[in-house]
Amino acid sequence: MVEDVTIGHSNVLTGKRESEIKMPRLGLGVWQMIGEGECKSAVSHALNSGYRLIDTARAYSNEQETGEAVIESDLPREEIFVVTKLRRVEAVGYEETIAQCKSSLEKLGLEYMDLYLVHAPPEDIEARPNVWKGMEECLALGLTRSIGVSNYGAHHLDEMRSYATVLPSINQIEIHVLNQRPALCAATRAIGAIPMGYSPLARGQKILVDERLKKIADSAGCTPAQAAIKWVYDTGAIVIPKSSNPERIEENLASIEINLAGSEEAIASMEEGYVSGWNPTIEH
Ligand SMILES: NC(=O)c1ccc[n+]([C@@H]2O[C@H](COP(=O)([O-])OP(=O)(O)OC[C@H]3O[C@@H](n4cnc5c(N)ncnc54)[C@H](OP(=O)(O)O)[C@@H]3O)[C@@H](O)[C@H]2O)c1
Repeated sequence: MVEDVTIGHSNVLTGKRESEIKMPRLGLGVWQMIGEGECKSAVSHALNSGYRLIDTARAYSNEQETGEAVIESDLPREEIFVVTKLRRVEAVGYEETIAQCKSSLEKLGLEYMDLYLVHAPPEDIEARPNVWKGMEECLALGLTRSIGVSNYGAHHLDEMRSYATVLPSINQIEIHVLNQRPALCAATRAIGAIPMGYSPLARGQKILVDERLKKIADSAGCTPAQAAIKWVYDTGAIVIPKSSNPERIEENLASIEINLAGSEEAIASMEEGYVSGWNPTIEH
């Protein structure tokens, strides 16, 4: 069974954790599910298979299908953890942030979301404090049960101490065997947040054909994808592999049963700082 992790927001002044909630540590990512019905059918299949966490974003253009699958499932709403994100180009100010959160809820067809993330550090540095104030207001209004960030580097997180009332519960960043990011995970935990690893399969390219990972997977009796996903899970991060394929959706969930004991050194040696997509964590 997928474990839960407790997430919450540390008060910047007192350091006290506020408004704690539980979040599943493995979920389905739905980026690039843009064919008609593709996202809805993948989310429905994932929910039927045992997934309880879905990661979408305004930028993925599939909040509506995600919400439809959530609403039409037999599961009570409170058993499903829905994440969406404030698009970077719309992360420009306080009012805009609240308006975008409400607009995402409308597209999802839901009364609340479970986690709202700033998709990447707002390009306008001056706007960052007001955007975060807007995120805090979304939390206070009950539009979302928690708030966090994505693609924030250690310096972005540190800066938040100067303008936040509560710090993020999550920092969603690229994490996989070829880009293990121990320093950024530590910086994330240092502000009381949990790392959420995206692209655990490096977008399905380099990792899945890596001979070293194939060997590790063979010795653990699993597929390379399962070894890659389970490694992220074993670091204590939340992991959100994407698949539109029913068999692979199930295969990825079954990765939590895999035992990678004995492969720690072999996996550690795979680190090469490989970035499969964008990397706003290093921007100003
Ligand atoms: N915050 C951000 O900036 C950010 C950036 C990137 C991603 N994300 C989130 O993280 C999620 C996952 O990352 P990702 O979509 O970049 O890539 P990923 O999960 O690393 O890889 C997805 C690719 O791997 C394939 N795949 C999935 N399971 C497989 C398996 N068991 N065997 C072989 N191939 C498999 C998929 O194809 P099929 O669909 O055909 O199975 C797809 O091509 C996204 O969907 C999104 O929710 C967030």
